[in-house]
Amino acid sequence: MIPIALLIILLSCFCLDFAVAIDSSITSSQLIRDPDAILSNGSNFKLGFFNPADSPYRYMGIWYDMPSEKAVIWVANRDNPLKDSSGIITISEDGNLVLVNGQKEVLWSSNVSNLVNNSTSAQLLDSGNLVLRDNINRAIVWESFQEPTDSFLPGMHHGIDQRTGKKVQLTSWKSLSDPSTGSFSAGLIHQNIPEIFVWNVSRPYWRSGPWNGQIFIGIPELKSVYLFRHNFTFGFANDWTFFALTAQGILEERIWIKWKDNWEVGFLNLRTECDVYGKCGAFGICNSQEKPICSCLEGFEPKNAEEWNRGNWTSGCIRRSKLQCERRNITGKVGKEDGFSKLNKMKVPDFTEWTSPATEDECREQCLKNCSCIAYAFDGGIGCMVWRSINLIDIQRLPFGGTDLYIRVANSDVDEKGKKDVFVSPLIKGMFALAICTLFLWRWIAKRKGNVLVNFS
Ligand SMILES: *[C@@H]1O[C@H](CO)[C@@H](O)[C@H](O)[C@H]1NC(C)=O
Ligand SMILES: *[C@@H]1O[C@H](CO)[C@@H](O)[C@H](O)[C@H]1NC(C)=O
Ligand SMILES: *[C@@H]1O[C@H](CO)[C@@H](O)[C@H](O)[C@H]1NC(C)=O
Ligand SMILES: *[C@@H]1O[C@H](CO)[C@@H](O)[C@H](O)[C@H]1NC(C)=O
Ligand SMILES: *[C@@H]1O[C@H](CO)[C@@H](O)[C@H](O)[C@H]1NC(C)=O
Ligand SMILES: *[C@@H]1O[C@H](CO)[C@@H](O)[C@H](O)[C@H]1NC(C)=O
Ligand SMILES: *[C@@H]1O[C@H](CO)[C@@H](O)[C@H](O)[C@H]1NC(C)=O
Ligand SMILES: *[C@@H]1O[C@H](CO)[C@@H](O)[C@H](O)[C@H]1NC(C)=O
Ligand SMILES: *[C@@H]1O[C@H](CO)[C@@H](O)[C@H](O)[C@H]1NC(C)=O
Repeated sequence: MIPIALLIILLSCFCLDFAVAIDSSITSSQLIRDPDAILSNGSNFKLGFFNPADSPYRYMGIWYDMPSEKAVIWVANRDNPLKDSSGIITISEDGNLVLVNGQKEVLWSSNVSNLVNNSTSAQLLDSGNLVLRDNINRAIVWESFQEPTDSFLPGMHHGIDQRTGKKVQLTSWKSLSDPSTGSFSAGLIHQNIPEIFVWNVSRPYWRSGPWNGQIFIGIPELKSVYLFRHNFTFGFANDWTFFALTAQGILEERIWIKWKDNWEVGFLNLRTECDVYGKCGAFGICNSQEKPICSCLEGFEPKNAEEWNRGNWTSGCIRRSKLQCERRNITGKVGKEDGFSKLNKMKVPDFTEWTSPATEDECREQCLKNCSCIAYAFDGGIGCMVWRSINLIDIQRLPFGGTDLYIRVANSDVDEKGKKDVFVSPLIKGMFALAICTLFLWRWIAKRKGNVLVNFS
């Protein structure tokens, strides 16, 4: 009798990885004990316990069930690790999904209030979502997709969760071996025009540029067919794709490559230094294909030339000459109207305001009329965007895509270069090219005629 029991225990030790419940539910009587795990119905995901690389601690988490490399997408007790392998995942007396240790201390709880006693169960869905349901009406009372860790999965909702009204954000791990709350977070903000931000604690570290219904202006390589369906719920062509925010604050797309049996990085938000928020300071423009990468907008000059020339761009640029509309306010004199300098292929600056004008001309006119408007842009998907902030920050020239951006400059500065370059020069260039072509064509015809003449004579 005893040897058989021992054999069973030994066997179950050797077959730890096989100790996986087929039913993906957790109830008050059906628990998960470390090192057991449950598999989602469809076998995409596992819920159980893991140690991060080089970490002595155990965590309750969900991961893609890959034999070669598990990709952890959610951690419950990230800031409250298990010091041993005594963890149990169960439904507590108050109906919440909980993680307890050997001393019966609660290390993590779904923390929903007002649940009815002994009437809930949890299930790991094949989307990777762990849901807690009310057994009476089957309503979802809590889900892990509402409280993501550092990964954003297909089917997950970004921004404000409609059911709970809570903000859904990613928070990075501290390091590869430490899933506790790191300093970077990422989320969608909805003020005015939707936009994705990555923050370093509270300071912006990266932004996507405004959403135009198809793409985020600053990341034209991410197409909508592939991403963001209704209300920014992710959708992918491939189920084995997700976004993760790394401990270094990089938002990256991870794609499972079946034949390589490995995860690969697709899209990366920080491709060049120019992607770092405000790299070139106020009124500076970043172009990764130029050296140095930062320059001042037309009509502006470095605020601190010495610093700027040393490659410290943090102080940014200032206006060279006062705007006419400002001068008029001071002196009362009326001079030449201000103008706009045009920049193409732009990731437009931060602090965009959406306004009503429906055409580009109206947008321009409205901006020109109001001295507090210092730039505008018109995008077919968004309409009229204006900037009234004190500084224009985080402007980048993209290799492709982007929008035309018009910066308000004093007339003297437009005359210098902008006006001619922008409005006149294409025409002159075109006429010049046409003239040269005509000349060559004429000479060629003349030569041919000459040859023909020679042949016949
Ligand atoms: C698993 O999925 C299949 C097909 O979608 C369904 O018929 C079955 O009831 C599911 N099982 C559980 C335990 O949810
Ligand atoms: C839930 O039920 C158990 C046992 O029936 C009881 O001890 C406990 O106090 C109940 N909890 C609540 C919150 O009603
Ligand atoms: C649980 O929720 C209550 C309010 O509903 C909140 O005050 C408390 O901080 C939460 N606890 C945890 C661990 O999230
Ligand atoms: C919950 O219900 C199950 C069966 O429905 C029962 O066995 C268990 O004792 C109950 N637990 C509590 C805490 O009431
Ligand atoms: C994040 O902010 C901290 C504190 O301000 C700073 O020390 C660190 O360099 C920042 N990280 C990056 C990648 O900018
Ligand atoms: C999108 O959100 C709006 C308001 O937040 C809501 O009225 C609408 O039903 C949502 N649409 C979908 C498809 O979820
Ligand atoms: C860059 O200039 C800013 C503003 O003057 C200063 O605070 C910062 O220390 C400088 N950074 C470096 C690396 O010199
Ligand atoms: C114009 O001057 C008035 C009075 O000095 C001031 O209140 C107002 O803000 C100024 N307007 C602009 C656009 O600078
Ligand atoms: C200019 O814009 C500011 C800020 O939106 C607004 O308060 C002000 O009324 C506008 N002025 C005019 C003349 O439209």
